[in-house]
Amino acid sequence: MTGLFSVAHLSQHHGLIIEGTGVSALGELPHDEVVDLFVRHGTLLFRGFDATADDFRELVQRFSEKLYFHQNPNRQTISDDGAVLLVDAHRNPIPAHSEMSYCPLHPGLQWFYCVRPASSGGATTVYDGVQALELLGAETRRLFEERRLTWRLPFPTGPEHQERVFGTRDRTELEKLFAEYRDFEYRFDDEGNLDWSYTVSAIPQAPYTDSRTLCNSYLGSGAVVAFEDGSPVPQHCRWDALDATEQVAVDIEWQPGDIAMIDNKRVMHGRRAFEDPERRVAAMLSMPNF
Ligand SMILES: [Fe+2]
Repeated sequence: MTGLFSVAHLSQHHGLIIEGTGVSALGELPHDEVVDLFVRHGTLLFRGFDATADDFRELVQRFSEKLYFHQNPNRQTISDDGAVLLVDAHRNPIPAHSEMSYCPLHPGLQWFYCVRPASSGGATTVYDGVQALELLGAETRRLFEERRLTWRLPFPTGPEHQERVFGTRDRTELEKLFAEYRDFEYRFDDEGNLDWSYTVSAIPQAPYTDSRTLCNSYLGSGAVVAFEDGSPVPQHCRWDALDATEQVAVDIEWQPGDIAMIDNKRVMHGRRAFEDPERRVAAMLSMPNF
């Protein structure tokens, strides 16, 4: 290594820890070398850099060409420019999912930053979908190979939410944007509310590899899902996907200042339950610049 950092495995089978050696700041890490490690490992945990919320924001910016802003008024902001938001305040466990993979906005990078870990529990979990797919029950794998999933939201998206999600509520601009999306169908009602459906494989091609990956929102999202022919996804698929993901789960046991960089198109994430109301973990989503 360059001496700017050292590396260690995050677990026996997935992820890499980039550890600060005390001689360099996060902002001095070589971009191309970090990218090379990221595409090989799928999850990087930056530890030992004493990162602040603004350091986190700068790191995200350095590896991204576009940020996705949640703009959720219920989420607390912790960076000077308001771009870094705490994750939702609930304490329940969350199964493996790929953020926003139920819609064409699906960001390439999922980021987390730990301000304060829970006193116990509350690990963020990561699941390499390439490994999980190898362990997926044969019947479920066959179904996912043969039939894609079609996603819908349970209620239409009003104009104010269109602005938040798509960056505009202007009909012409929205239609221009939607024309770029594949397998996306939509209609506006008379009040301008938007209904859409999006069809995508549950086991898409993983970026930077020759492999497919179990990477979707099937186990955890508020969206409505069925196979693209309209038939329901059989219940055994859920148990198979839970079983396969849990076998490859890696728990990120947070330390203050830790930053996780996750390939949101290959690796799913989730969370272990916790009780501590003082847990503070922030998230960002972005499109990679590599
Ligand atoms: Fe998530």
